[in-house]
Amino acid sequence: MGKIIAVVNQKGGVGKTTTSINLAAGLAYTGKKILLVDLDPQCNASHGIGADRNRSRNKNTTYEVLVDEDSASDNTVTLDMPPIDVLPASVDLAGVDIELASASYQVGREQLLKNKLNPIREKYDYIIIDCPPSLNLLNQNALTAADSVLIPVQCEYFALEGLTQLLSTIRLVQKLFNPALSIEGVLLTMFDARTNLSVEVQKEVRKYFKEKVYRCYIPRNVRLSEAPSREESIFEYDTRSEGAKAYAALVKEFLIQNEKGVN
Ligand SMILES: Nc1ncnc2c1ncn2[C@@H]1O[C@H](COP(=O)(O)OP(=O)(O)OP(=O)(O)O)[C@@H](O)[C@H]1O
Ligand SMILES: [Mg+2]
Repeated sequence: MGKIIAVVNQKGGVGKTTTSINLAAGLAYTGKKILLVDLDPQCNASHGIGADRNRSRNKNTTYEVLVDEDSASDNTVTLDMPPIDVLPASVDLAGVDIELASASYQVGREQLLKNKLNPIREKYDYIIIDCPPSLNLLNQNALTAADSVLIPVQCEYFALEGLTQLLSTIRLVQKLFNPALSIEGVLLTMFDARTNLSVEVQKEVRKYFKEKVYRCYIPRNVRLSEAPSREESIFEYDTRSEGAKAYAALVKEFLIQNEKGVN
C-alpha cells in the first residue's frame, strides 16, 4: 500500500516542486514505484519533468480526476527517465475552489482526491503530491488524502512566517477528515552556508520543529533551477552537482526513516 506524501507550504517559491520532482526521481532510481501528482494550476511539476509533453490526447489531468468521473489510473503518464508515473495538472485547477463550492459538492469535497487515489495506492510504494502555494480546497484535498506532509522551508527572511497557519490547517484537517495525518519532515531548502542568515534560519527551524527537521539540507544550486527547462530531474541533468548529492541524501534519510517505521 503506497504511502501518500503531500509536499506543502502555502508560501510561494520555497522549493515544493523542486523537492517533489527530485524526491520522486531519487526514490524511483532506488527501485521504488512512484506516482507524482501535480495539484498545482501552475503545472510546474508536469512541465518540469516533461509529463505534459508526453501526455497522449486521450488522457486527462488532475482537474478532471478531481471534478469528473475520470479515474487516476487511466490518466497517469509513464516516464522512462526518471522511471515514474505522473498525474499532470492543468490550469483549470485554478477554478476548482469556486466550482466545488456549488451545492452538489458540499459533502465530501475535501475527500475527492483521497477517493481517487485510494484505488491505485497499491500500485505504488510512494505517491508524492506537489501542492500549490495556498491553503485552499486543493491543499485540503491533498492533506485529506495524505498520510504525511513534507514541508520545504526556504532559508530566507520570514521563513517561519506562515508556518503557524500551516500547522493549524494541518490540525484542522486532522480533526475533521484525517486523524492519522503526520509530519513526514521539514526540509531546509536553498541553504547558503556562506550567509549568516541561512545559518540563523536553520537554527530557528530546528529549534521550532526539533527532530522533525531532516539532518540533510538542500543548498542553493543553480543546476537545480536549470534542470526543469530540460524536462529532467537533477539525476539526469547533472548527477554530480551539489543539488543531486543533496537530494540523494534526502532520499536516503527519507528511506531510513520510513523503513524504521518512524512515521
Ligand atoms: N536549491 C535550489 N537552488 C537554486 N534554485 C532553486 C532551488 N530550489 C528551487 N529553486 C528554484 O527556485 C524557484 C522556486 O522553486 P520551486 O518552483 O521548487 O518552488 P515552489 O515552492 O514549488 O514554488 P510555488 O509556490 O510557486 O509552487 C524555481 O525557479 C526553482 O528552480
Ligand atoms: Mg511549485
